Amino acid sequence: MNQDEINEIRNKLNIVDVISSYGIPLTKKGRNYFALCPFHDDHSPSLSVSEEKQIYKCFVCGESGNVFNFVMNYEKISFKEALAKLATTIGINLGITEKKDNKYDKYYELMDIANKFYQNNLLSGEGKDARKYLENRKLDKNTIQEFEIGLSLNKMNILTNLLVNQGYSMEELNLIDLSNENRDSFINRIIFPLHNKDGKVIGFSGRIYNRDDLNKYQNTKETPLFKKRENLFNYHRAKAAIRNDKKVIVMEGFMAVIRAYTVGIKNCVATMGTALSHEQADFIKKLSNNIYLCYDGDAAGRKATLSSGEVFSKMNLNVFVISLSDNLDPDDYILKYGEENFRKKIDDAITFNEYKIKVLKQKYNFDNIDDKTNYINQVLLEINNEKDIIKQEIMLKTLANDTNVWYNTLEKKLLGLKDKEINKEKSESVVIKKDKKNGFLKAMESLIYYSLNYPKVITMIDNSNVYIPNTDIRLLLNEIIAYYNRYGEINEADFYTYLSNLEKNDLMKELNKVLQNDYPVMENDDQINENLLAIKKYNIALEIRKLEKEIKEEVDFERQIKLMEEIRTLKTKEGKSW
Ligand code: UTP
Ligand code: MN
Repeated sequence: MNQDEINEIRNKLNIVDVISSYGIPLTKKGRNYFALCPFHDDHSPSLSVSEEKQIYKCFVCGESGNVFNFVMNYEKISFKEALAKLATTIGINLGITEKKDNKYDKYYELMDIANKFYQNNLLSGEGKDARKYLENRKLDKNTIQEFEIGLSLNKMNILTNLLVNQGYSMEELNLIDLSNENRDSFINRIIFPLHNKDGKVIGFSGRIYNRDDLNKYQNTKETPLFKKRENLFNYHRAKAAIRNDKKVIVMEGFMAVIRAYTVGIKNCVATMGTALSHEQADFIKKLSNNIYLCYDGDAAGRKATLSSGEVFSKMNLNVFVISLSDNLDPDDYILKYGEENFRKKIDDAITFNEYKIKVLKQKYNFDNIDDKTNYINQVLLEINNEKDIIKQEIMLKTLANDTNVWYNTLEKKLLGLKDKEINKEKSESVVIKKDKKNGFLKAMESLIYYSLNYPKVITMIDNSNVYIPNTDIRLLLNEIIAYYNRYGEINEADFYTYLSNLEKNDLMKELNKVLQNDYPVMENDDQINENLLAIKKYNIALEIRKLEKEIKEEVDFERQIKLMEEIRTLKTKEGKSW
């Protein structure tokens, strides 16, 4: 299907109706509609929808796009799926696009058959020992049913044969790791299905229960369905609870999540033993701003708390830490101390900054002056990171108490750190001042907005032969120019389709970022010409800076003179006389 046909479909749709059809109430204010943004934990309506431009934009989380992007993001489906789905609503059946999805449907179907098979095994005569094992671990019938726990039998090829007899090919089974080298992948293990964000089974984890094996858990390897970095255990079940409770509890292992669930704590997800990936962090962020880390109480758990906490903190989320005593994991803790005590642990969670200070405290010996000084300096760095000045003061007071160092001395040192930070920023910008640099970036970014909204700007840019030093912006402008040359017209909404269809996700992100800013109405061409000139001057400034550096390193006198000449020419070009 070509861009023109897709645009035609988009023209028949109204983004306001489509968003409303998801039960999201839209209120009209001025020219635009507003709603609570479904893509982050929103408390006041920050999603704006333009009926005129047929695009949406969230001013807080930055999600934006056209009607296709909304459906893609909301339903977590591909561009083609969103297109097909929306086309159906206006009575167009896109037979072709469903082909690719059918392939995946077949894999999901296979996963479902395997899942049911494993579940049946557990209930059969051969599942007696496994059932006993689960009973000993205090997992009751309801939990087994809810989490679809099953059993792979102590037989080599039983599942593979069953599926081949049903007409599936060996290649397919190997591809999704139900079979491995034509044999069953999971043998003699208790099986926990792993689901994607929409609740479809994409893999399994099998635990040993009646024998010794080096691998306590065996997981489905990376397959077209199962991508470890992009999935979290229990995400699909926890979504609603997380939104309700306005917090998410992140754990290491899935037994911990299952245990918490059995006592009614349903807002937990698990990373399944590996380090938190950025993709996983992004998914979690979409559900809540309040992250509670509840890792195992052992050394590995403490290490993971520090690294995950850092990832979430950098994303400007509120991070808290739940610490469990005696090296226990949440599963053991709840079994040993009960639900009430665990809930109390959640209520007593400390902020990530406080946690880091606690960890530092254990590292240093206060009887040693150097150790103590080191500790104080490290803690001051953490306090400096804290954004809330009230919290800063409280932390400073605690530090003074803990170390017996005068409060005013600590405060002085903290202010010194702040000064240093400011000086560092200053020194980084001697040649090109920071705000000036930002100004150039803004100038470049604005070109994207104006070319999407005033096509004549595209011609102006094309004719100016200006070089855009920022790669993403340059690529975006190239795409805009290519699009315009091909279709003879352009607007934000159709350009979104174009990028989504080509799966240019990085450019899409950049476009979202750029369009996040507000741009004034274009009064006349001067505005654009000034921007183009500013970018040209910026390029020259960069070039001059490069040559100046070269001169310093150049030992050959003749060569130095030549470089100086070049700089002089550039400076005249830049419009400076000297
Ligand atoms: P743990 O060793 O803490 O397991 O690993 P657990 O959750 O307490 O499980 P039980 O109570 O011993 O049954 C945490 C997570 O690391 C992954 C699993 O996802 C597990 O939930 N893991 C662990 C593996 O993938 N393979 C292993 O061999 C061990
Ligand atoms: Mn455990």
